[in-house]
Amino acid sequence: MTLPTIYFILLLVCFIALIPFVKKILRNFHRKRKYTAILKEINLLFQEIDAFKVAKDARIKYEKSLTDLYYGEIDICALLDLLDIASPPQQCVFYDLGSGCGKSAFAVKLNYPHLKVHGIELIEELHDIANQKLHQYLDKNGLAHHDFGLEFIQANILNHNFTHADIIFINATAFSPGTWQQILYKLMQMKCGTKIIITSKTLPSPAFVIRYQAMELMSWGFTSTYIYEKVI
Ligand SMILES: C[S@@+](CC[C@H](N)C(=O)[O-])C[C@H]1O[C@@H](n2cnc3c(N)ncnc32)[C@H](O)[C@@H]1O
Repeated sequence: MTLPTIYFILLLVCFIALIPFVKKILRNFHRKRKYTAILKEINLLFQEIDAFKVAKDARIKYEKSLTDLYYGEIDICALLDLLDIASPPQQCVFYDLGSGCGKSAFAVKLNYPHLKVHGIELIEELHDIANQKLHQYLDKNGLAHHDFGLEFIQANILNHNFTHADIIFINATAFSPGTWQQILYKLMQMKCGTKIIITSKTLPSPAFVIRYQAMELMSWGFTSTYIYEKVI
């Protein structure tokens, strides 16, 4: 084999190896363009908020499993694309279980104005930020809370009834196995047809069927992500 042929083969191998990365970069670029207006609004609204620090400082108060309250955020474009795949019908009820400072629930509301969006968060300090940002947005745009259809609830998701939800999002990576078991039990009570978007964890029960599976970007890196449908 001649030297130019070897160079050519090496180049070809490098090119093929780079294809997935190039694809990821292009997808990210395309997503950012698709959701420019929403990203701008969210970045402006939450610009001075450091939810990671707020969560870290507040965690000490709560007697929860060490990892349950670790904070992280899903990439907003990734969540909106996942929701697009779940294709929410009109009049649909969406829940973010563990909604943090409210960014992800806000983004969902802005992209799908017809959805009724609820965010449940245990940490009071994070819940307060979400509520404050909601009222700031409503005031700025002259909107009434009742008509807007975005609500933040400070509660433990393990004690809250969300059986009327049509689509649920759970950024579940940090949940301990014990907590995940209890969440799984609650998800078993959901009605047929409910879609559940989850990061990292799975739903090992014949009551749920995987409709979509991918790796998506979180604040800490790429994570496996699933869309399940409750079928029994
Ligand atoms: C990884 S963060 C996700 C934030 C947001 N949903 C996102 O993806 O950008 C998980 C959140 O769940 C909250 N959390 C953990 N256990 C909870 C519980 N039992 N009830 C309500 N919220 C809980 C944590 O405090 C944290 O804010």
